[in-house]
Parts: sequence; structure tokens; C-alpha cells
Amino acid sequence: MTTTIVLPKAFPTTFAPFKRGRHIVTGFSVTEKWRTTTALPLVAAPHNHTLLLSTQDLTRKQRKLFGPSQTAQWLLRNDEFTTQTLASLQNDGNPKYMLMRWPEAVSVTVAQKLFRRWDRLCLAGVQFPAAEVQRSSTPALHLGLWALSSSSPHYTADTLQKQICDPVKRGKVIGKMDKLGALVKKEVIPHLIRLMAEYAPEQTRVQNLIHEKVQGYLQSVITARPAMYFGPLFYTMAVKEGSSEKVHIDWNDSMQKYAIVFCVGDYTGADFCVPQLDVRVPFPPRAAMAVQTRLLAHCATVVGSGRRLVFTCFTDCTLLEQVLKGRDWAHL
Ligand SMILES: [Fe+2]
Repeated sequence: MTTTIVLPKAFPTTFAPFKRGRHIVTGFSVTEKWRTTTALPLVAAPHNHTLLLSTQDLTRKQRKLFGPSQTAQWLLRNDEFTTQTLASLQNDGNPKYMLMRWPEAVSVTVAQKLFRRWDRLCLAGVQFPAAEVQRSSTPALHLGLWALSSSSPHYTADTLQKQICDPVKRGKVIGKMDKLGALVKKEVIPHLIRLMAEYAPEQTRVQNLIHEKVQGYLQSVITARPAMYFGPLFYTMAVKEGSSEKVHIDWNDSMQKYAIVFCVGDYTGADFCVPQLDVRVPFPPRAAMAVQTRLLAHCATVVGSGRRLVFTCFTDCTLLEQVLKGRDWAHL
């Protein structure tokens, strides 16, 4: 069953490219009089329904950013696009739904296995970075590939775990990490690909463009850690326990791309909040969600009880931009 809701809200104001910071979101929350997360009204849809949320259409001013033919105008000012790239961007500029939620995207058995493999990874001594205070009190591991602060895609520091000096211990950690990644690749991603192909087909073209390009240049890197290569649907997966309680924008995500989130555990609470749209969406265990996390300020309410393991899957904007601009990675 599916519930489709068009919210009585204007298409959301965009947080401008290249200006980032928590203060921008906080300032906006005051001027726009956003409600606190617990005061946000719960969306009227049963937990076991597929939920599709959209808003009113873009205004004329907003179309300048997203493009009259929905081309990704935010990239065009660089004037570095081939005709082929521009053609591939048509209709990819403005996905139809702000948020999609699918119940039971992960089976009970796979959910239990994911938690067991996560626990083994933690027990093996995986090293976490510091928690990102602008969004959460708990730290996340960023696994897989990205191109942040770099001229080419590479495995993240969390994936490589170079801070572990003992090679035996490091090997053990990497082995457990790869088992977790392999399980996600085998048992979760194929279903997510099917869901996205059905509900957001316009995203597929650019995803395939990135996949072709990355695979072409990084074959040897991918072969070294195949369990950490998640393409073509996404390239980085943030994994952590808890929830992201502070309202934030994911500045490194792409404006027109969805981040895909799925959660497992025996938790209560942790509703997904979008104060910009004045809505709170229950996020039950084993559900998956696709959200425009660079467009919409968002957070979750705290976990009420139990454990919650959350996987946030995304493609960083630098990687997307490098592919769209035809960046040559021949030096790799
Ligand atoms: Fe986020």
C-alpha cells in the first residue's frame, strides 16, 4: 500500500551552494519559525505503507537554480560540460519527491546479521573519528569511496584504518568491516536499487555515468577492497548507532540527489524530522528512506529505547562534480 502526500508548503528555500555552516541553518530556523522536533506534526500515514512526500511546484525564482528544463544549473556556471553530459542531466535536476519511505526494506534475518557483524567490527577495535558535533552526539564510520578534499576518488580514512599500527589488529578490523560491507552489498543494496529504479528513475542516468567513470579508472583499487565499493547506487556509507539529533544540512551531498537511509535494531523513537516542511515521519526498524538531504534541513528525535544502527548511503558532491565536468583521472 502507498500513501502519497502533497504537503501544503511551497517548494523549500534552498541553502545556497558554497555557503555552509550550522549558523546558517540555525538562523533560518529562527526567521522561518520552525517548530521544535517533538512539536512537529506526525505524518498521517500507516507505518507499513510506502510513503511519498512532495511539496508544491518550484517558483519561477527557484527554477533559475534548478533550471527551466530541470538541468542542474548549479553546475552550469563552470561552463565545463560536454553536450553529452548536459543531455544526461536533463530531467535529473528536480526529483519528484522530497522524501520516500519504504517499510521492511531489510528482512528480519538480515537485520540481525547486520547488527552481529557491526558488534564484531566494534569488538575487533575499529577506530572511530570524533563525533560531528553539528549533527550528532555519536560518531559515525564513513565507509567506501569519496572525492572530498581531493582531485580524485579514494577510500575514506575510516575504510583504511591506517591509525591502527599493529598490522595483525588492522587486518582483523578490515576483515570484519569487509564482512559488514559484503552483507549490505549482497542483501540490502539490490532491493534499494529496485526501489530507486521504480520511484526515482530519473536518477539512474547520472548514477550510471559516475559508475562507468569510477570503474574505468579505479578497477585495481576496487579489486583490492571490493566489499567497500558500493556503486552504482552510492559510494559512501556512514554507519553509526543512535540518531542525528541536531537539525542540519548535509553540505557534502548533492543538491538534486537522494541520500538513502536504512535502520535496524529494536529501538523506539528516532522519528525523521523535516522542520522546513513542518513534518515528522516515523522511521521504524528495517525501513528505508530516500531524502534530499542537501536540500532539506533534517534531524531525528532521540532514540527512546533499544539499540538503533543507522546506515546513510550517499554520493558526495565533489565526486559527482568531477564526473560531470569530465575530470580526467588518468594520473591514478
Ligand atoms: Fe543528515
